[in-house]
Amino acid sequence: MPYTVNKLNGYSATVLDKAFADLRDAFRDEAVCVSDLVQFKAHRDRWLARKNGVLTLVRELWLREAPAEARAEVGKRFNDVKSHIEGLVKTQGMDLELRKLEGSISKRIETVDEWKQAELGDPLDITLPGIRRPIGAEHPVIKTMNEMIGVFRNLGYSVEEGPEIETDFYNFEALNFPPNHPARDTQDTLFIAGQESKPLRDRLLLRTHTSPVQIRTMQKMKPPVRVVCPGKVHRNDAPDATHSPIFHQIEGLAVDTNITFCDLKGTLDHAMKAMFGSSVKTRFYPSFFPFTEPSADVQISCIFCDGKGTRDGAPCRNCKASGWIELLGCGMVDPNVYGFVDYDATKVSGFAFGMGVERIAILKYGVDDIQLFFQGDVRFLEQFG
Ligand code: DAH
Repeated sequence: MPYTVNKLNGYSATVLDKAFADLRDAFRDEAVCVSDLVQFKAHRDRWLARKNGVLTLVRELWLREAPAEARAEVGKRFNDVKSHIEGLVKTQGMDLELRKLEGSISKRIETVDEWKQAELGDPLDITLPGIRRPIGAEHPVIKTMNEMIGVFRNLGYSVEEGPEIETDFYNFEALNFPPNHPARDTQDTLFIAGQESKPLRDRLLLRTHTSPVQIRTMQKMKPPVRVVCPGKVHRNDAPDATHSPIFHQIEGLAVDTNITFCDLKGTLDHAMKAMFGSSVKTRFYPSFFPFTEPSADVQISCIFCDGKGTRDGAPCRNCKASGWIELLGCGMVDPNVYGFVDYDATKVSGFAFGMGVERIAILKYGVDDIQLFFQGDVRFLEQFG
């Protein structure tokens, strides 16, 4: 016969002693029958449920009904038995959880039914689909870089990389930037602090361009050399829509016998057509870099107005109505540079070029703010998937 709560017939100490003792015994008798989590939860709810739980009924039928003079005594006994029962329920619950855990660890579970058995009360449905992780998209800068590298790989170029923390020697001196030469100022260099005690050439800085990788490559390889060098570069530039203190470049270098400016023009014209479409034209505009002589800036015909300078009857904003967009620097390797890497300037010749990856990506994908590449906003990045 399961225990039921009945009204008390009297409030004498003897009646109360017996009623509360029966209550405890009933709880204990039922508790010892509990052997798994499902039974435990049913037992717990039968005794502790706010609505119609045994203890709630005891409060209503014994405590509320008690005459004023017996109320304190009944209240005290009620609180005692309540905390006694709550304590036992908690301990028993934890014990069962623990046993369940130990059971599932020590026993090998081999079938779905065994799983369901082991997970009684807290079932794990292993037939439900798992949590799907979205596949990331290649970052537009890396994507552009890989595309450009692919164009040069197809021409037989290999890939070389160099450190982002460079010495003055590789970033400047060996590239024919004399000390205190104004060309150094155009690089907005970020210097590593505390280098003053070293000789100038050993002082560390964040590389301002990928050109130092030309030097490192020529130091370890003899001609013929055909390499592209992708990587991150740093400049002390305030960020705005077209500038970022960190950006990426791809450097190119080809050194062999009898390499001419014609080879340079043909190579870059091909690369620009491969990147922007075969109708794009290139133009080589005189420029200056300390490590190339002669030097040139390469312009491509404007991809927005097809080189016309006007679009829909208005001046084209992308090329400032000129029909041309400046894209990269290049030139024939200055013979002075060969002197720093022990190449014989009377026997070899070569060309070099360097381009900004973000700038190419901006044009290719019509991005209007370079900062978007560095903010990591998924809404922007997922468009390149
Ligand atoms: N290093 C130059 C810069 O960042 C770009 C450059 C120009 C690289 C001409 C070259 C080159 O290799 O020949 O401003």
